Amino acid sequence: MRLRTRHMLGIAGIEPDEIELILDTAESFAEIGEREIKKVPTLRGKTVVNFFVEPSTRTRSSFELAEKRLSADSVNFSASSSSFVKGETLLDTARNLEAMAPDFIVIRHSEAGAPHFLARHSRCSIINAGDGAHEHPTQALLDAYTIRRRKPLAGLRVAIVGDILHSRVARSNVLLLSKMGSDVVVCGPPTLLPPGVEELGCRVCHGVDEALEGADIVMALRLQLERMTRGYLPSLREYAKLYGINAARLDRAAPDAIVMHPGPMNRGVEITGDVADGDRSVILEQVTNGVAVRMAVLYLLAGEVESEAAA
Ligand code: CP
Repeated sequence: MRLRTRHMLGIAGIEPDEIELILDTAESFAEIGEREIKKVPTLRGKTVVNFFVEPSTRTRSSFELAEKRLSADSVNFSASSSSFVKGETLLDTARNLEAMAPDFIVIRHSEAGAPHFLARHSRCSIINAGDGAHEHPTQALLDAYTIRRRKPLAGLRVAIVGDILHSRVARSNVLLLSKMGSDVVVCGPPTLLPPGVEELGCRVCHGVDEALEGADIVMALRLQLERMTRGYLPSLREYAKLYGINAARLDRAAPDAIVMHPGPMNRGVEITGDVADGDRSVILEQVTNGVAVRMAVLYLLAGEVESEAAA
């Protein structure tokens, strides 16, 4: 079994058996993180360009670490350190990066569809590290991996609470978890729920207590204040009161429910500090698991590129 794509552009483009393959492969890579020498020669001789036009702490360092553990050579560009700030277009950037013959470009961009555009204009493998409010496939994969280490992915009740409108994490998670047979409910203020979100494969719930009732997975999302160009909320205090995940609300979830957050967190807004740091929280485990999942994605995509070249 192999992936049927040489790019990782979104969960929308992959099937449940490919998701299982990535998660199974990540299991075998996770063990490398526990060794004294955390390195294998799997991608020796391959070059990865990490092109991050938007800020990132977790995704960028996780990809860089995954590449190092696989012995790939990495080159890092951020918006401020590239000619993006001088007005270079994405197409020119793509052509110039391509001219250096990388094997992968990992891209985070504020515009939805930027990785898809790059995939149409590049010969190398493109990995979407988050494009606008569209998709963040490796985040959803690492979330699924974190869940699957505790519970089978099928038949779960998943509550995703917060700023659904601006969240690529919500979109990728709804697509992935519904594909794998879970019942996903999204919840947030009406102004932060995109019209037609049900078409992704979830239900909508406006009341957080109802959304959390019996949930196996509680996923809090950050309020993306930097993307809010108008008054979506009366105040952060009001939001925390109505939608924040706190200990009393969490009591409504299943007794073995886990709490997730993709980060970065606004403590005291979408989640209280005691819940974020509590014994049901797997938030730092998500970060740990991101490295193995990104190693799996790079490894499997490299196999696809090699088999295409051989054909
Ligand atoms: N979860 C996530 O994408 O975090 P960063 O923005 O820090 O990469």
